[in-house]
Amino acid sequence: MKAKTTFYCTACGNETPRWQGRCPACGAWNTMEEHVEAPAPAARGKTARPQEVRRPKPLSEVDCGSEVRFPTGLGELDRVLGGGAVQDSLVLVAGAPGIGKSTLLLQICSELCRTLKVLYVSGEESAGQIKLRAQRLGVSTDNLLLLCETDLSQIVAAAEELRPDVFIADSIQTLYDPENAASPGSVTQVKACTLRLMQLAKGSGITVFVVGHVNKDGAIAGPKVLEHMVDCVLYFEGESAHNYRILRAAKNRFGSTNEIGVFEMADRGLREVPNPSELLLSGRPTHAPGTCVACAMEGSRPVLAEVQALVARTTFNVPRRMADGFDFNRAVLLMAVLEKRGGVNLSGSDVYINVIGGLQLNEPAADLPVILAAASSFRDKPLDSSVAAIGEVGLTGELRAVSSLSQRLSEVHRLGFRCCVIPRQGAANLEVPSGLEILRVRNIREAIETLL
Ligand code: TYD
Ligand code: MG
Repeated sequence: MKAKTTFYCTACGNETPRWQGRCPACGAWNTMEEHVEAPAPAARGKTARPQEVRRPKPLSEVDCGSEVRFPTGLGELDRVLGGGAVQDSLVLVAGAPGIGKSTLLLQICSELCRTLKVLYVSGEESAGQIKLRAQRLGVSTDNLLLLCETDLSQIVAAAEELRPDVFIADSIQTLYDPENAASPGSVTQVKACTLRLMQLAKGSGITVFVVGHVNKDGAIAGPKVLEHMVDCVLYFEGESAHNYRILRAAKNRFGSTNEIGVFEMADRGLREVPNPSELLLSGRPTHAPGTCVACAMEGSRPVLAEVQALVARTTFNVPRRMADGFDFNRAVLLMAVLEKRGGVNLSGSDVYINVIGGLQLNEPAADLPVILAAASSFRDKPLDSSVAAIGEVGLTGELRAVSSLSQRLSEVHRLGFRCCVIPRQGAANLEVPSGLEILRVRNIREAIETLL
């Protein structure tokens, strides 16, 4: 049978039967890469699985065992995984080169090796380099076995012989399956290797962590094409200018994808940041126009972040709008509401919105802080720096209730804010921390007039 050829976009994972210069799904240019389907398992000789007839059975008769979890030693990572790593699962840790993926996985070895046997396979660094890094991170244990190899058949053979509890592969782009003619890092190889590691996880009861590099220009097959195969996809993000990193789950078969983990890259590896609000608010300008503090829920945890806005007279025919860390279309909508309902004339001004610290505020509760920051910049009057704002803004300029208000208020209070602006509605049995003044407002005009 002729091998089937398909094409994948390395940026978004879209599949097409023919090569195209531009991906029809995400619009990226020159990201399509050829992928030759592997022959059916029956033709693969000894790797074929025994044919057994599977019959459907009632859900009540299915034996699922119990989900076994173990802590990784980094509370922030456990939180993103949904309460610890799950046995027999495959976790993909994706991120830009140099963000700290290898550091994260080597660091968890120190805790894992207390009770478990770990096999760390690196196709990128030599054993000496890994040892130097391990010394720097304070990892020294005999339960950690290193293997510097890129040939997948040898790696799998080693794993099957050693039977480790945890297997770490750094990185998937450097591994290659000798049965496959494609070059390492290509979509075909990356998929074949991931599938093999998935079989290793499910068949031998090994927990597998795989590192995948994300490359913006799509030169290397990105983890996007692997997302549907693995159990859990974690993205490790951060800005090169800052030394803190955010770990977020894009997919998790064993937990929520809302949680984030926050780390700081220090000279001895990654340090957990259990209170990200403090970090995000550090260095905040006081008495400066165009800044307001927002409180967003990141999973189960409230996080405070600073929203900045700059309203400047435009030199363009059409005024510019720009948003970083906040949805662009939402920002445009809010500026229209601010103009029409808040009485702030923005038609001759460019508006730039920025959320400090690389955080994405994708929550309606951040609407009011964006409006207030823009109004403050327009009037060139600072907001009181001990005030935080929470509220969703509707098209008539009204403020609408948000979820988990009590939790947000206690975080606002914990960080030493004196006052918090909240919507008048929907706050029936609210627990207000003592010492925190609550300002209930009905609409954005009332908020602007009270605070500015
Ligand atoms: P690394 O884990 O090698 O990145 P990745 O595997 O994602 O490509 O991290 C490399 C960066 O981390 C490098 O720029 C140096 C920095 N780093 C520290 O700042 N402190 C440390 O203790 C370590 C080990 C790395
Ligand atoms: Mg690395």
